[in-house]
Amino acid sequence: MTRVITARGLARTFRARRGRSAQDVTAVAGVDIDVSAGELVGFLGPNGAGKTTTLRMLTTLLAPTAGTATVAGHDLRTDPQGVRRNIGYIGQSGGAGPDCAVRDELELQARLYGLPAAEAAARTGELLDAFDLGDAGTRTVQTLSGGQRRRLDIAMGLVHRPPLLFLDEPSTGLDPQSRANLWEHIRRLHAEHGTTLFLTTHYLDEADALCDRILVIDRGRIVAAGTPDELKRRVSGDLVVVGADSPDVVAGLAADLPGDEPAVDGSTVRFRTPDGAGVLPALLRGMDAVGVAPLSVEVRRPSLDDVFLTLTGRTLREAEADPAETAAEPALGGAR
Ligand SMILES: Nc1ncnc2c1ncn2[C@@H]1O[C@H](COP(=O)(O)OP(=O)(O)OP(=O)(O)O)[C@@H](O)[C@H]1O
Ligand SMILES: [Mg+2]
Repeated sequence: MTRVITARGLARTFRARRGRSAQDVTAVAGVDIDVSAGELVGFLGPNGAGKTTTLRMLTTLLAPTAGTATVAGHDLRTDPQGVRRNIGYIGQSGGAGPDCAVRDELELQARLYGLPAAEAAARTGELLDAFDLGDAGTRTVQTLSGGQRRRLDIAMGLVHRPPLLFLDEPSTGLDPQSRANLWEHIRRLHAEHGTTLFLTTHYLDEADALCDRILVIDRGRIVAAGTPDELKRRVSGDLVVVGADSPDVVAGLAADLPGDEPAVDGSTVRFRTPDGAGVLPALLRGMDAVGVAPLSVEVRRPSLDDVFLTLTGRTLREAEADPAETAAEPALGGAR
């Protein structure tokens, strides 16, 4: 199978100001990425994980500090033009100008890619149809809904029919219905045109619903890779959380039940087990027998957060609040 992305040790460090001193911040700490032609790959991670930085390197918008990559058959360092000609890139905030009519914006983009006028107009018509924007062609970009706007962004990235398309957070900020609609468009693009797609997201459900394969990035490193099923299998089973005054006693009892080794955190005990509701009566009987009363009992199906927790040892929320990531924002650094 043809490889369309091969990256080795791709890394990027930023010099960020922190108060008066400057400090090196490692946004991407050396990632290896392999993507074959026709794959739909999700690049999943919390805010600040390094998704956009990686994407900007792979699309020649940002020079790597270290590492090599071949993208769409061209070397990132020696032939960035070749890479650019063969990829589409849809950035995190979109590229269309607010005052421009939708149709004009697409035609202009097509002309920028060197299509003659007649062909640019034909391609624009095709894309408006494909992305259900036919009725919006004469409207200005600023009057579009969030979902229409995002579809226009994608259409813009496709005018030159690139075989490889990069999308940065395609559905962030969309309501559930617009998101489902966008997924449909992305799926169709993939199925009907065989376009290879590499998209970033911090939604596990998005990666799950859309992608053949997921790479999980955290703090600039790839911490897991696999099909959605493979990743989910790592957190199979329910999470049981029991609060008690004698958590060690509870943990001792839970250790005899099927499932993972229990973990004690303060007065709570957590463990994963294939059937949470099924093991609970035995656990509570055991606690009763030794005179330990439960303060709280909870059984949870694996959530998206649990997947991330299993992979990184932190919850998504903790990861996003991590000062190691936020400290790197130059604007914040200057204000401290
Ligand atoms: N130009 C820059 N100067 C300094 N630090 C930067 C710069 N760009 C990114 N960073 C830092 O690099 C890290 C990774 O940022 P990046 O934008 O790649 O994350 P992300 O995974 O795309 O996050 P999000 O989900 O919020 O878009 C962050 O700590 C960020 O603050
Ligand atoms: Mg980003």
